[in-house]
Amino acid sequence: MSNYIFLISTLFYLLTQLSSAQSESTLLLPSESSHTCPSLNPSLNYRPVIGILSHPGDGASGRLNNATNASYIAASYVKFVESAGARVIPFIYNEPSHVLQQKLELVNGFLLTGGWCKTGLVI
Ligand SMILES: *[C@@H]1O[C@H](CO)[C@@H](O)[C@H](O)[C@H]1NC(C)=O
Ligand SMILES: *[C@@H]1O[C@H](CO)[C@@H](O)[C@H](O)[C@H]1NC(C)=O
Repeated sequence: MSNYIFLISTLFYLLTQLSSAQSESTLLLPSESSHTCPSLNPSLNYRPVIGILSHPGDGASGRLNNATNASYIAASYVKFVESAGARVIPFIYNEPSHVLQQKLELVNGFLLTGGWCKTGLVI
């Protein structure tokens, strides 16, 4: 019962707010509005930046390189992100943490790649 009273009083409040808002505001065409959006700075690149985490290994099951410091990002991940209009920053999985922290401050989003690996540094 108290839920209904709360609901009814909330609805009443919203209706009174809505009706008072309608009486005070008028609709303006975009040409009549004094608010304008700032124009884009042509010297800046507005495409988002997405970080992609690399995998350990050479991406070819050791056929190219067995070095422990090898890492790779599948080209399909980069193409996927770039096809959506974004730019890519690679995050090498074993980079020093301060470098990763600097890169994190530069990106708008992050793609965590998946795969079959069940153990390792990135798990
Ligand atoms: C990497 O190691 C595997 C397994 O020992 C071996 O078959 C392969 O030839 C090595 N690859 C290279 C590029 O040395
Ligand atoms: C990886 O390690 C090898 C052997 O220590 C070294 O010669 C090579 O320069 C290293 N590569 C990178 C990208 O650090």
